[in-house]
Amino acid sequence: MGRILSSEPQNEDENFVTIRPTSLDEYIGQKEVKSRLEISIRASKMRGDVLDHVLLAGPPGLGKTTLAMIIAHETGGHLQATSGPVIERQGDLAAVLTSLSSGDVLFIDEIHRLPRVVEEILYNAMEDFQLDILVGKGPGARSVRLSINPFTLVGATTRSGLLTPPLRNRFGIALELDFYSVKDIALIIKRTASILGMKINEECALEIAKRSRGTPRIANRLLKRARDFATVKSENTITLETIGETFRAMKIDSHGLDDVDRKILSKILNDYHGGPVGLNSLAATMGMETETVSEVYEPYLLQAGFVARTSRGRIITPKGYAAIGKPLIGFENLDLEE
Ligand SMILES: Nc1ncnc2c1ncn2[C@@H]1O[C@H](COP(=O)(O)OP(=O)(O)OP(=O)(O)O)[C@@H](O)[C@H]1O
Ligand SMILES: [Mg+2]
Repeated sequence: MGRILSSEPQNEDENFVTIRPTSLDEYIGQKEVKSRLEISIRASKMRGDVLDHVLLAGPPGLGKTTLAMIIAHETGGHLQATSGPVIERQGDLAAVLTSLSSGDVLFIDEIHRLPRVVEEILYNAMEDFQLDILVGKGPGARSVRLSINPFTLVGATTRSGLLTPPLRNRFGIALELDFYSVKDIALIIKRTASILGMKINEECALEIAKRSRGTPRIANRLLKRARDFATVKSENTITLETIGETFRAMKIDSHGLDDVDRKILSKILNDYHGGPVGLNSLAATMGMETETVSEVYEPYLLQAGFVARTSRGRIITPKGYAAIGKPLIGFENLDLEE
């Protein structure tokens, strides 16, 4: 079984197609992102232009793919979705671009992983809707220019800093998605519960929300697990008792941390005396890719204040100590409340 708190997509999320919001109105939270999109979409419609290219940056599971679908829905364009690592050659991208109709939305997930040679032909495509491709090899090679239909590129990345400046600069609308507040996550949980035909009150929605790491994908997944526990008891209401059983089974603590998070914290504490430890060493100790630690696990630990970043590496914070149940020797004078 995959890690329940992983914000990476898992197979069962496919069942969630119906719970994905399809319009901006249904999209909960991210107020600023929503209002910027709303205005730009409305303005482009009034001018009769295609929407400017949109860059969506943020940790996994916060709703980038959902927003790309919503943008297509709201602008009335067809959505074509692909991802950076899948487009290996210039020809692959040229094939996609030439197949677009006017006003289509091309969604490129993990756009920071586009190979450089491919990225280079994207520049003109974004700027002038022109495609310059090299035909042939060696001295006989020549450049051919093709016109493509005006389209909106929606690029998604876990961090906008991973993009090369020339690519980043070609996005007219750059949006950063942030972790959701507990209140917004609770709203998402209530919305999903009602779509799934489950009853859940405010208190219970908040209990799940607090352990969802500010991430809608995790919230929906935890709700589904709780629903399993309710189903076997032939209940269609999610109760506090059911939630308790779910989290105990999932080994998720009251901070929303799971085994992997606690392992990261205890590695920093025990193997590196609390830090600082460089990301590469930490990842190696965990037996993980550096990118996995930095893009998937670390953002929440940093944002929630369990780990801090220093110029010499990561350190565990007093809150991190407390989360793994260690005595706070030397931290007695620190105010542990956030
Ligand atoms: N604002 C929101 N309101 C309600 N549900 C949401 C919202 N954002 C995301 N979701 C739900 O969370 C799930 C994950 O969203 P999505 O797949 O868009 O994340 P993502 O940012 O693309 O993640 P990744 O980076 O891993 O591709 C979806 O199934 C969607 O239903
Ligand atoms: Mg996605």
